[in-house]
Amino acid sequence: MAQMIRPMVAGNWKMNGSRASLDELALMSTGFTPALRQKLDIMICPPATLVLAASQRAVGIGIAIGGQDCHANDAGAHTGDLSAGMLFDAGATAVIVGHSERRADHGESDATVGAKAEAARRNALIAIVCVGETRADREAGKTLAVVRRQLKGSIPDHMTSRDLVVAYEPVWAIGTGLTPTAADVADVHAMIRQDLRRIVGKEEAEKVRILYGGSVKPSNAKELMLVPNVNGALVGGASLKALDLLGIVAAYA
Ligand code: PGA
Repeated sequence: MAQMIRPMVAGNWKMNGSRASLDELALMSTGFTPALRQKLDIMICPPATLVLAASQRAVGIGIAIGGQDCHANDAGAHTGDLSAGMLFDAGATAVIVGHSERRADHGESDATVGAKAEAARRNALIAIVCVGETRADREAGKTLAVVRRQLKGSIPDHMTSRDLVVAYEPVWAIGTGLTPTAADVADVHAMIRQDLRRIVGKEEAEKVRILYGGSVKPSNAKELMLVPNVNGALVGGASLKALDLLGIVAAYA
C-alpha cells in the first residue's frame, strides 16, 4: 500500500543557480544522515547548465540529479532544446515534465507532456509528471476534472512505478506561500492514485510515488507529508538552500 512507498523529496531549482550553488549539494549530503537515507530519496533538479557538474559533485553523496524538462524527440533540429538522452548522458536519473511553468510559458499540452514522459522512459530516466489546477479552475470547482484530464493525457499507459513519479502542484500554491488544506491534498492524491490504477494498472499504481508541490517549507512539510497518498515533495524555492531542504527532509526523521 501507499505507506510502503519510499518517499522522495525533489528540489526544482528552476532558473536559479550557478556553479557556486553546487556547494549546497555537499551541505545537503552532510545533513542527510544514514538514518534518513534509509527512509527516503533526495533529488535536485538544477538548470541544464549545471546537470553535468551537479552529477559529478553528487557521486557518492546519496543525492540524485534530474533535469527540469526535455524534448519529446531524441535528437534533431530543435535549437535550444535538450533530449532526455542528453540528460542521461550528463548523469541525470530523472526529468521533470509538464511543470505548470512549462505548460503556461511554453504552451505545453497534455499530449506534449505525455510525449516528453515517453522520451524520458525511452532514455532510462524517471519522468516526474506535474499536474495541478489554476486558481480559476479551483474556484470553478474543476480541480479534480482538470487534474484527471492532465493525468490521462500526460501519462503513457505503459509506464511503471520505476519510470514514473507524479507531482500534484496546484498552480496557485507555487511560489505564493499558500497551500491547500491537508484534506484537499488528501482528496486530490486519492483521486490520482485511483486514476493511476486505470492508466498504468492496479499493481503499478500502488507503487507510484505521488509528490505534493507548492510552497512546501520546513514549517508545513510534516503536515503535508503525513497526508495519505503523499509520498514526498517537489520543492521549488526552499530547495535552493541546504538548510531549508533539510528542514523539509526532517519531516521523515
Ligand atoms: P515552490 O515551487 O516550492 O517555490 O512553491 C514548487 C514547484 O514549482 O515545483
